[in-house]
Amino acid sequence: MIEVVILAAGKGTRMRSDLPKVMHPLAGKPLLAHVVDVASSLNPAAIHLVLGHGADVVQQYFGARELNCILQHQQLGTGHAVQEALPHLTNGSTTLILYGDVPLISAPTLHSLLSLVGPSSMGLLTATLDNPHGYGRILRDQHGDIHAIVEQKDAAPEQLLINEVNTGVMAVSTAHLQEWLPQLRNDNAQGEYYLTDIVALAKEQGCEVRGAVTEQEYEVQGVNTRAQQAQLERQYQLLQAHTLMEQGTTLLDPARFDCRGVLRAGRDCVIDINCVFEGEVILGDDVSIGPNCVIKNTRIGDGTVIHANTVIEDAQLQQDCTIGPFARIRPGSHFSAGVKVGNFVETKQAKVGKGSKINHLSYIGDAELGANVNIGAGTITCNYDGANKFKTTIENDVFIGSNSALVAPLTIAAGATVAAGSTVTQNVEPQHLAVARQRQRNIANWVRPAKK
Ligand code: UD1
Ligand code: MG
Repeated sequence: MIEVVILAAGKGTRMRSDLPKVMHPLAGKPLLAHVVDVASSLNPAAIHLVLGHGADVVQQYFGARELNCILQHQQLGTGHAVQEALPHLTNGSTTLILYGDVPLISAPTLHSLLSLVGPSSMGLLTATLDNPHGYGRILRDQHGDIHAIVEQKDAAPEQLLINEVNTGVMAVSTAHLQEWLPQLRNDNAQGEYYLTDIVALAKEQGCEVRGAVTEQEYEVQGVNTRAQQAQLERQYQLLQAHTLMEQGTTLLDPARFDCRGVLRAGRDCVIDINCVFEGEVILGDDVSIGPNCVIKNTRIGDGTVIHANTVIEDAQLQQDCTIGPFARIRPGSHFSAGVKVGNFVETKQAKVGKGSKINHLSYIGDAELGANVNIGAGTITCNYDGANKFKTTIENDVFIGSNSALVAPLTIAAGATVAAGSTVTQNVEPQHLAVARQRQRNIANWVRPAKK
């Protein structure tokens, strides 16, 4: 039986932030949420979060999730933090210790670490870094066995040359933790109870410390500064970009791609530079997305083209639509096949039927449009009277002339035409022409006012 303890009580002083460090985002999700998610994927019997600074903010975020939050009132060190969790652990389990500020650790790495734990062995995840500064160093004996960890601040000059480091991640039988943790002392450079000291205790008491090594540096990198946060963000985005490319999507520049959630793409999609995907975005085959688009929680059908600088949220676009440039597609926009929405058009709660066009400078909100409707430039659905919202229904084959105001509630029946510049307040019958504007007067020999 596996239990996970995630250490997340530290303040993160070097972030210089009011937000607890573990709540800072990576790919749109708190660092700690990445760790909780990978922990959950192991199906542990329990996940214990050790919280301190900003515990209320963390607890509020995770809300209903089944996590056991433990408060460490004073942060006396990583060993002390795990000690606070001890009473919550079950006899006979294996405890996996993760750090809330090391977000990209992967499930396969954790599985191989867990496989090293036995009645007289524990598992420790190490990594070999070009620049080991700041990390605890792994000390091995003449047989190559791990016998201790020495912290940066406690290390002798020759020990600082070692570039195999402690990642902080370890797997230990709970019985061993119960035995060793009370023996920790804080007579070190930081006056803290170091979790890492259990390695030497293990060795002394005849327990083998088995090292698992990860090749992927990013898996064990911690976030202590905003620069490290940015570096890990890029690393993560690059990984996602490469996965997408392997699956058959063209990215014009994988270094300028951001997915803060999940993006699934069919075959032969093309994504231009500087696009941001949020929530869950699903693309069909042959979808093309221009530069600088922001797309959130949206489904886009085969062959649809999204031009530059378009923002889409909570929408569904079927196949062969053409959207943008500079369109804003807001929640509840559902477009059927072949819809065209052009520049400076905003839609919200708008169902648009097959082949309909809203090509320029319009607002279509709380509206249902049939097939083959043509909305002229500058058309506005006046859906709001200052207190309530009303619906506009526009049936098949309607033509709305430019610069019309359609005052809802309103139905414009099939085949009707609205003359340009109309303010339409009454329903229009099928095939009728609605003209709702003042008739033009032309005054002959008009004399313009002169300057005094
Ligand atoms: C720790 C390890 C070091 C390792 C490095 C890897 C120790 C003594 N050192 O050092 O060997 O190379 O991680 O990143 O373990 N925390 C608590 N309560 C506390 C203290 C810390 O919950 O009282 C949490 C922090 O919020 C953080 C984690 O434990 O998530 C690690 O603490 P941190 O102070 O960052 O340890 P490092 O100095 O990085
Ligand atoms: Mg750290």
